[in-house]
Amino acid sequence: MDRFIIRGGRPLHGEITIGGAKNAGLKLLVAGLLTSERLVLTNVPHIADIATMCALLTQHGLTVEAVNGDKTTLSVGGEITSTEAPYDIVSKMRASILVLGPLLARCREARVSLPGGCAIGTRPVDMHLKGLETLGAVITLENGYIHARAPEGLKGDRIVLPFASVGATENLMMAATLAKGRTEIVNAAREPEMADLASCLNAMGAKITGAGTGHIIIDGVEALHGTTHRIMSDRIECGTYACAAAITGGDLRLIGGQVEHLGAVVRAFEEAGVEVTQEGNAMRVRRTGALRGIDIMTEPYPGFPTDMQAQFMALLSVAEGASMITETIFENRFMHVPELNRMGARINVHGSSAIIRGVHSLSGAPVMATDLRASFSLILAGLAAHGETILSRVYHLDRGYEAVERKLAACGAQIERVSN
Ligand code: UD1
Repeated sequence: MDRFIIRGGRPLHGEITIGGAKNAGLKLLVAGLLTSERLVLTNVPHIADIATMCALLTQHGLTVEAVNGDKTTLSVGGEITSTEAPYDIVSKMRASILVLGPLLARCREARVSLPGGCAIGTRPVDMHLKGLETLGAVITLENGYIHARAPEGLKGDRIVLPFASVGATENLMMAATLAKGRTEIVNAAREPEMADLASCLNAMGAKITGAGTGHIIIDGVEALHGTTHRIMSDRIECGTYACAAAITGGDLRLIGGQVEHLGAVVRAFEEAGVEVTQEGNAMRVRRTGALRGIDIMTEPYPGFPTDMQAQFMALLSVAEGASMITETIFENRFMHVPELNRMGARINVHGSSAIIRGVHSLSGAPVMATDLRASFSLILAGLAAHGETILSRVYHLDRGYEAVERKLAACGAQIERVSN
């Protein structure tokens, strides 16, 4: 298993190119199930979750090929030969549930393993299932699998989501493209990835309006066709490297970064004493003064993203004064706290809130990654800390960040990957 060895204390300077968005790319690959023609995606990030999604699509019978030997351009297409998404893939990656709506819409049937540990009617896929039932699907649970059928095809209807779930909005939006008549999704998720997915689906012949707002309207069509689509740049990767500039007192130009996709994050940076500007196609982030403690609450977009929470926790652990972070989206998303505390941070968790008392400096330590974003918060702490940090279980990081050590080292960080 790979580890990172980080020697901290160096301000980062230079440029980092932000890759295609993981959370857009995964769904855009799934959109390949909606047509018999080939869908070509460019700006595909080279990360493990994308490889997992390609394996799932291959299991459904599609072929996924790099175009001209370039792995950042993938062509997906072919006939669907299996409508089953097996446990061994779904349990690896929760986003696999996204194949349910498209398979059902196209093949009128799908069997998808429930993501590990969840039960129908409770978290985490009840909204996906209820929405598909509203569109006429008959859903049963058998041996840990969701079995969904719509022998006459799906029929458009009005779906009101009780919570603006990202995954449920995407699943239902994709399914509704091939339903008969009009579907409305009320209280839809408004993340920029919704608009990116809808723009690709519309280029494939779908009729979607309002994606990116809380009210999406989809007029069903008979069939979709192939297209070529460039995946939007990853706003969370951009925000994460912005934290690397901020925590080290550096100055980074993040190529492809869009301030407009990071409104709440940029406001938090500015309040904390970090300067953020859009310079052409790059987001520039620099810090010259001290970091100040601030309060943050995670919320659905356009609020502060839960996927930036752990990184800000590392940043605020070395800010002047106290900060409070409240997590409202996921339970148990403070697993990085004990590890940060082992590096000298002073963080206490009370229910869904964490109180962070800023310390003057952190000290390097052996630490363990627990999930994707938490892993990066430990890298950030390591970049700011005195001495050496050894981060194990780097595979969590490889799920969603491409070439971390190369990107950071090019800007002056001392970080190396060691196997075993
Ligand atoms: C997506 C992102 C993830 C991000 C999250 C919130 C991808 C691949 N992942 O995850 O990085 O952190 O949005 O911005 O895009 N819930 C239910 N029932 C449901 C669906 C969700 O209770 O049917 C709950 C979940 O357990 C969670 C909350 O709603 O507590 C948010 O989930 P959701 O917005 O659906 O996130 P994901 O699509 O899983």
